[in-house]
Amino acid sequence: MCGIVAYIGAKPAQSYLIEGLKRLEYRGYDSAGLAVLEGGKLNVVKAVGRVANLEDKIEDLGGFRGTIGIAHTRWATHGGVTEFNAHPHTDDRNGIAIIHNGIIENYAALKTYLEEKGHKFQSQTDTEVLAMLIGELYAPQEGVDLEAAVQAALREVTGAYAIAVICEKEPDVLVVARKGSPLMVGVGAGEYVVASDASAIVSHTTQAFVLDDYNVVKITRSGFRTSTIHNVPVTSKIMQLELELQEIELGGFSHFMQKEIFEQPKAISNCIRGRLNMDEGRIHLGGVGNFSKELSKIKNIVLTAQGTALHAAMIGEYLFEDLAKVSSVAEYASEFRYRNPIVEENTLVIAVSQSGETADTLAALQEAKERGALAMGVVNVVGSSIARETDAGVYLRVGPEIGVASTKAFTGQVAVLSMLAMYMGRKRFMSADQCRDLMKDMERIPGLIERICEQDARIKKVTEKYIHRENWLFLGRGYNYPTALEGALKLKEISYIHAEGMPAAEMKHGPIALINDGMPAVFIANKGRQYEKVMSNIQEVRSRGGHVIAVATEGDKDITKYAEDVMYIPEIPECLSPMLAVVPLQLMAYHAAVLRGHDVDKPRNLAKSVTVE
Ligand code: M6R
Repeated sequence: MCGIVAYIGAKPAQSYLIEGLKRLEYRGYDSAGLAVLEGGKLNVVKAVGRVANLEDKIEDLGGFRGTIGIAHTRWATHGGVTEFNAHPHTDDRNGIAIIHNGIIENYAALKTYLEEKGHKFQSQTDTEVLAMLIGELYAPQEGVDLEAAVQAALREVTGAYAIAVICEKEPDVLVVARKGSPLMVGVGAGEYVVASDASAIVSHTTQAFVLDDYNVVKITRSGFRTSTIHNVPVTSKIMQLELELQEIELGGFSHFMQKEIFEQPKAISNCIRGRLNMDEGRIHLGGVGNFSKELSKIKNIVLTAQGTALHAAMIGEYLFEDLAKVSSVAEYASEFRYRNPIVEENTLVIAVSQSGETADTLAALQEAKERGALAMGVVNVVGSSIARETDAGVYLRVGPEIGVASTKAFTGQVAVLSMLAMYMGRKRFMSADQCRDLMKDMERIPGLIERICEQDARIKKVTEKYIHRENWLFLGRGYNYPTALEGALKLKEISYIHAEGMPAAEMKHGPIALINDGMPAVFIANKGRQYEKVMSNIQEVRSRGGHVIAVATEGDKDITKYAEDVMYIPEIPECLSPMLAVVPLQLMAYHAAVLRGHDVDKPRNLAKSVTVE
């Protein structure tokens, strides 16, 4: 969603800010803006659309040389996509400028209070309210400097925020704060780069610290001080950023989504490395080891997530029941959090999330925790809000995912859930040999994904054949029913083609009415328990004029009798097959978006991480 960058140091801030905004473009946004302090004056520039538009405007103004500034990419929540609503926002008295990610929930009441005090608002945003409130409380002659005014304002606020604030009257001070939205400070030599994610920092420094909720950091060119909003000093621990620059660059690929699809073999290798203990026939997961006793007593598992992560969670539901014999259910976090869920004794809640910042998933986790569940995270971003909120957890270790359409995070989530199910299974009914056999198959996954990716050119050709069709169906059963949902989501989110995913058997209960001459129906028809049933479903579609595209197991000759186009995946136990079956679907969606001329990594209306409800 929105992105934050701020700089204070000895060099012109502008290049740091623009570079940072470009690195954050992947998060999704609809306008951008920047404020630089120069010669004691605040210069604010905003533009609707891409960061390039903002750059053009700045160039027309001759550029800025000031060495302190803040910049933002906005994804509209309160108020339309206009320059007025874009950040930074300023107060009307003191030359204070602020950028903000999150939502100020009590902004309406605060706005009324500030209007009564004579403040005049220009935008419809909650952020402008915060700018005015800081300005209202700012009284340097009475000892309320920028840091104190920010602390005081945040004591009045309910909601979520990551903010960066500068002020004409304190040109050597940058104040940043966080509650609920991620924010980190990169510590360089005589300079600081603040950002909402590490990708905007790592080209300048690999030393950084993450703000905790309610932390306020006052940064000057000679140092920083962290405190709470109640001004209690806090020690910030500087860490080494693991992120490599090449991980966030295209490296010869046309799009991040494409790069991340092809990176899956390496990503899964990293994900499973050191976690499969062949000698003992058991799974080793560092982040859950301390809860070994509790995990053997677990009677119910609730997996909760949104979007692609929910599809992985749904596969987890099958895995836990099959491999660990523990009753499991996967639920939209947005529904779970509000439906008064019954959390019985010995319940494990697993929040699945790439970013670790999805607002609904975080809230669902908190809700389950309050009701007594043991909280576990299956998360990619280290140190993210969900990772910090959980009792135990397993990181995906698939590297940063920049493409808005999630690909390698999905296969990583399924890989981690498979390992977790085996881990739990070994505590119950699974023998060391059974576990060893599955681990051997897990080890094959990276090489098998590589083999599927070699069919890329053919998959593109298949996609071309159907590219003008506006309605698609994705059908699968068992483990690959969630894979079908994922195939449909991938196609719709980047190519804007209408696609529906469902269990293949459900088709007869209504959706079959949609099938008309030439409608593409993608079936996941790999060899498994329900192969014959899927074949019957395929024939039902064929006999009504639909075009069948199948994802089938290598060596399956019969499938060509029923499907017009076949994309093959290697043979693997059914419970691990989603990690393979999803790859041709990811490639199809990618090609469809490119063929339709869409910006694959910046799909319309979408944000990489959804930090509002
Ligand atoms: O960061 P998370 O995994 O929690 O994100 C959840 C969804 O917002 C995300 O998977 C979304 O559906 C993607 N755009 C799918 O490609």
